[in-house]
Amino acid sequence: MTDGYLSINGRRRLSGETRVQGCKNAALPCLTACLLCERGEACLSNCPYLTDVENTAEILERLGAVCRFDEGGHAVSVRAENVFGSAIDNEMMNRMRSSVLFMGALLSRTGEADLGYPGGCEIGARPIDMHIRAFRELGVDIDEEGGMIRCRLRSGLKPCQVSLLCPSVGATENIMLLTAKSEGRTVIRNAAREPEIVDLQNFLNAMGADIRGAGSDVIVINGAKELRGADYGIMPDRIAALTYMAAAAACGGKIFLRGANPEHLAVCVSVLRDMGVSVKRVSGGMIVSMSGRPNAVNTIKTLYYPGFPTDAQPAFMAAATVAKGTTVFVESIFENRFRHAPELKKLGADIDVNMCQATVRGKESLSGADVRACDLRGGAAMVIGGLVADGTTRVYGVSHIERGYENISRDFSNLGADIRMIY
Ligand code: UD1
Repeated sequence: MTDGYLSINGRRRLSGETRVQGCKNAALPCLTACLLCERGEACLSNCPYLTDVENTAEILERLGAVCRFDEGGHAVSVRAENVFGSAIDNEMMNRMRSSVLFMGALLSRTGEADLGYPGGCEIGARPIDMHIRAFRELGVDIDEEGGMIRCRLRSGLKPCQVSLLCPSVGATENIMLLTAKSEGRTVIRNAAREPEIVDLQNFLNAMGADIRGAGSDVIVINGAKELRGADYGIMPDRIAALTYMAAAAACGGKIFLRGANPEHLAVCVSVLRDMGVSVKRVSGGMIVSMSGRPNAVNTIKTLYYPGFPTDAQPAFMAAATVAKGTTVFVESIFENRFRHAPELKKLGADIDVNMCQATVRGKESLSGADVRACDLRGGAAMVIGGLVADGTTRVYGVSHIERGYENISRDFSNLGADIRMIY
């Protein structure tokens, strides 16, 4: 974690190319899934080099697995033949949201799990009631007491049909991890449809699981007897790609995003086109170009995939601050996801927040100031604010940004920005 700040001299058009990193939200569940691999070595490539990935590997090691990163930190191999623990302490659980996925993986592997509640960005209450309800339906005994969750599979898993109240990404993944290696058939209805869930399905299947339907709202898991080692490449990070696209919309210029996958970005690309941005799919990635100020978009409402992603809302809000006209953002997934709005206002942005709605009246320019990243994606929005503002902006709280971006200053430098990390 870093104590420094990002220093940005803004108002430069972007130009150049950068490679889109591997996807954090796919790498973390896939790495957790390695716990299910009883024979051989599971190797994940295209992992982003992030503290959350290291933290996940640390949990695996504390449970008895052996993890080895390659020199660049982008490939990790895991041997989990010997798992001797089933408890994860509160401090480890607290470091990130995805630690909750160890509940399913540990129960599958050892029949028990003792854990605290997961941490992660403070963007809302983020309960895990749907995970717990589904696990109980599948035969897990769960006691919640004193801030700990004690889970036991006393009389084995009872595969059944589980219907989620809403398509939770984490609950869908947790159920897949719990049931991939069970007897019988589990069906998840109203499953989340995010591409990261398809990645988890593909990795589990590469290890010998039989899971179908990821990417749709019904996922069928035919339990496999044993999972064995496999090699798998993690998908590109669609939210990182969208961050650079929103920056290009705000700053203008022409950039090439190597590795960006247009299949994952359809709704956002159509929003960008409404903003006047040209987005082209080319061999090996996407080219994004823009001249002049972006158009405002009437309303951008965050929704479950394939709708507009809540994780891209802050970056698009930063771009909307310099749009020609008013954009209204409606946040329908997390109730506390406008913490970047008051920080953008320090740069001169005109934003009114009312409950889950933010009205952004675009201005011709912003001016540099000292601002703070309050959470991961909100932090990326502050970087875009700094890139578009006149003068110098200092973004503090960089450790939030580093939870999701391997090296945001390197990537924006590659794209011609004047941005430096100061320690
Ligand atoms: C994942 C992503 C996060 C993204 C979010 C929505 C990871 C590590 N994180 O988070 O970046 O912003 O999906 O795309 O992959 N809910 C409940 N009860 C539950 C579970 C969820 O009420 O038991 C609610 C949440 O409060 C939220 C909604 O369901 O309103 C969606 O949450 P969910 O899809 O579970 O998000 P995460 O998996 O935490």
